[in-house]
Amino acid sequence: MAIVAPSFLASDFLRLEQACKMVDESKAGWFHLDIMDGVFVPNISYGLPVVEHIRKTTRKICDVHLMIVEPGRYAEAFKKAGADVLTVHIEACPNLHRNIQQIKELGMKAGVAVNPHTPVALLEDILQDVDVVNLMSVNPGFGGQKFIPYTLHKIKQLKQMITNRGLSTLIEIDGGVTMENAAGIVAAGTDVLVAGSTVFNAKDPKAIIESLYNL
Ligand code: DX5
Ligand code: ZN
Repeated sequence: MAIVAPSFLASDFLRLEQACKMVDESKAGWFHLDIMDGVFVPNISYGLPVVEHIRKTTRKICDVHLMIVEPGRYAEAFKKAGADVLTVHIEACPNLHRNIQQIKELGMKAGVAVNPHTPVALLEDILQDVDVVNLMSVNPGFGGQKFIPYTLHKIKQLKQMITNRGLSTLIEIDGGVTMENAAGIVAAGTDVLVAGSTVFNAKDPKAIIESLYNL
């Protein structure tokens, strides 16, 4: 069983309020909010005012995934907008330890995301300071892409590192999660399952969330 975190990137932005209500009433544990700057990734999504409004619709955990350069410049603003978990990319942070400390000092849980090409071994010296590791199972920037199968190996490797050291870091999988591959992803050791298009393109999104939750 994993925490389900629907990604609003795939929702109908003209009906965002209904989307929030649906996720709030569903078995989802977290709201996954993707912030893209057009620099770190080749796409622009939405920003602070949208997060602020979504925040007001729920008491569930708001999991903000920053796909932006220099995330430290915006950490405080995202705290004010209502983020509970703030995730930065290891590839965007030459001073990652400082970013993690800043996020925690602001009172949020700290997440680190790693791109598909980044080895989990690079987390060795920071793992003890991190609450969530977001293992990207697609190249960040777009919803609706295909799950990269090698990620399953990375989940097992990371799980081993976490268990060996007696840590309680959560493993989050982000990208290409479908009803077909979700069970295998959870069985490999995933704690948080992000799902965008699989949830929002479904006829009955609530039922899909429930099925993912019950895996
Ligand atoms: C991709 C984002 C994901 C994305 C997932 O850069 O980080 O959260 O919305 O979308 P799906 O589930 O459609 O792959
Ligand atoms: Zn994401």
